[in-house]
Amino acid sequence: MYENISGKVIVITGASSGLGEAAARHLSAAGATVVLGARRTDRLDIIAKELGARGGKVLALATDVTRRDDVQRLVDAAVEKFGRVDVMLNNAGLMPHSPLDRLKVDEWERMIDVNIKGVLYGIAAALFHMKRQKSGHIVNVSSVAGHKVTPAGAVYAATKHAVRALSEGLRQEVKPYNIRTTIISPGAVATELPNTISEEDISKGIHDFYNEYAIPADSFARAVAFAISQPDEVDINEIVFRPTRQVL
Ligand SMILES: NC(=O)c1ccc[n+]([C@@H]2O[C@H](COP(=O)([O-])OP(=O)(O)OC[C@H]3O[C@@H](n4cnc5c(N)ncnc54)[C@H](OP(=O)(O)O)[C@@H]3O)[C@@H](O)[C@H]2O)c1
Repeated sequence: MYENISGKVIVITGASSGLGEAAARHLSAAGATVVLGARRTDRLDIIAKELGARGGKVLALATDVTRRDDVQRLVDAAVEKFGRVDVMLNNAGLMPHSPLDRLKVDEWERMIDVNIKGVLYGIAAALFHMKRQKSGHIVNVSSVAGHKVTPAGAVYAATKHAVRALSEGLRQEVKPYNIRTTIISPGAVATELPNTISEEDISKGIHDFYNEYAIPADSFARAVAFAISQPDEVDINEIVFRPTRQVL
């Protein structure tokens, strides 16, 4: 089905649901070894068991991306068990939209901790090994919100703009180590993401939008696989995709 995926060791954060889970299933089916991190280990264990039963090589570890040690342990475990880390998919994230004047400061901080610092911890953990290997691929999940700002989405958009800025800086700096970098910016994809919104009116609006427009999560999995499956000398730096009917 794909070139250049089978046998790769791919670490995925936020693998317990939505886009991370879909990527884990798709990449495992394409022959990758997948190393799954998230906090809900009950969900991770079910996914790992299913993939293992189909002959996939898989490891699942409790990981909170707001803890640098957890993320380092996840990537180190991949290297200890499977000998290397070929791809780091920094996917964990949340989207508790709200207008700024509602002062949901705890949620702002949570988004900064998970969506920005979690990605940085993933970069740090993977870079350590990829520099030594002189190969690797870091895939960071941004969003259409990393390109466009909408009302009630300022902080989320800021975190996703930050992911793009970090990824572009990373791209320029890792040339000596033969590391590829990809930003994936999805539009509305049907996952549990809107459930992270605590403000009732905003939650309703976003759920209505997702119910109307969102596309299945395998769209994301195919985009990730496309980037990874390119020949080693081809670096897909950014993919933006949306539901065909989504305007902004
Ligand atoms: N769905 C969309 O429309 C869309 C569009 C653009 C971008 N994105 C981005 O795609 C990524 C995945 O989101 P999704 O849509 O798949 O939503 P989701 O179904 O809610 O999945 C989010 C994942 O992130 C994990 N996560 C959250 N906080 C975490 C933490 N502190 N430590 C470790 N893992 C954590 C969750 O796992 P646990 O709760 O088990 O820890 C879960 O596996 C996010 O970065 C999101 O911003 C999604």
